[in-house]
Amino acid sequence: MAPPVSLADESLFYGAVLAIYLFSPLSVFSLLFVTVPYGKHYRAGWGPSIPSPISWFLMESPTLWLSLLLLPFGKHRYNPIALSILSLFFLHYINRTLIYPLRLSRFGISGGRSGLPISIVAMAFGFNLFNAYIQIRSITHYTEYGGRAWTCGIWTASRVAIGVGIFFWGMAVNVRSDLSLLRLKAEGSGAYKIPRGGWFELVSCPNYMGEVAEWLGWAVVAWSPAAFGFALFTAANLVPRARSHHKWYLDKFGEDYPRSRKAVVPYIF
Ligand SMILES: NC(=O)c1ccc[n+]([C@@H]2O[C@H](COP(=O)([O-])OP(=O)(O)OC[C@H]3O[C@@H](n4cnc5c(N)ncnc54)[C@H](OP(=O)(O)O)[C@@H]3O)[C@@H](O)[C@H]2O)c1
Repeated sequence: MAPPVSLADESLFYGAVLAIYLFSPLSVFSLLFVTVPYGKHYRAGWGPSIPSPISWFLMESPTLWLSLLLLPFGKHRYNPIALSILSLFFLHYINRTLIYPLRLSRFGISGGRSGLPISIVAMAFGFNLFNAYIQIRSITHYTEYGGRAWTCGIWTASRVAIGVGIFFWGMAVNVRSDLSLLRLKAEGSGAYKIPRGGWFELVSCPNYMGEVAEWLGWAVVAWSPAAFGFALFTAANLVPRARSHHKWYLDKFGEDYPRSRKAVVPYIF
């Protein structure tokens, strides 16, 4: 029997989906003036720092535990399409919540300026709670898999194939670029160096480029307002940060920094 859905949950869900669309332009606007103070842009005054591996584990963890808690309440909890979409979401967050922090530890990146201010960890934790709720309820309950988007033969198959391809390409670029940066940091004993090779020859932040592509691909697969809202929010968060990173590289390395490199979109931006 399908679990009951309350009017309160329905209102909360649609309100939250609307909110993610409203947050996106607000995020772009605020990030034009304030760069989030961690990593290269670390500034004191945002609370005590938590070591990076613990920070990443804590702030990303709702995407795993809240998702698993909400799963049994979805009417599509046994639907293979819903579970396939969910598995891509989990794949990304198993890397971000478990593997990435373990890698940070392995490369000895854990304290001092490498820590994240507690206020940033709290905000990211809140966003991940909010987003896990929206995405899991959308996939496992509010999306209707009997509609045209899911039953239109060649169109459905092509859309899903393209989306899955973009998702895995983005994830490969994201994970490999993160790994290159961690190696670079470990080689330089914590000092910043100019990243070289692969997508770094075209953009300063291929890890962000990969992450934006991943969620765009996932939204093409999931084909829901909630998933497109998340893809939009990811771009609204990471494109301005890539711009700040790019500017930081130009200021720090001056003439040594490759002039043809863009911030996050090859040849364009
Ligand atoms: N979905 C989202 O909205 C969202 C938001 C934020 C992050 N993320 C993802 O989380 C991952 C990490 O994000 P991040 O903002 O920490 O990425 P980042 O600024 O590129 O830093 C990644 C790691 O590499 C180190 N590093 C960066 N540039 C370096 C250089 N030139 N030389 C030596 N070491 C360098 C950083 O050290 P420092 O920390 O000391 O700079 C950090 O440990 C990325 O894959 C990103 O896509 C996603």
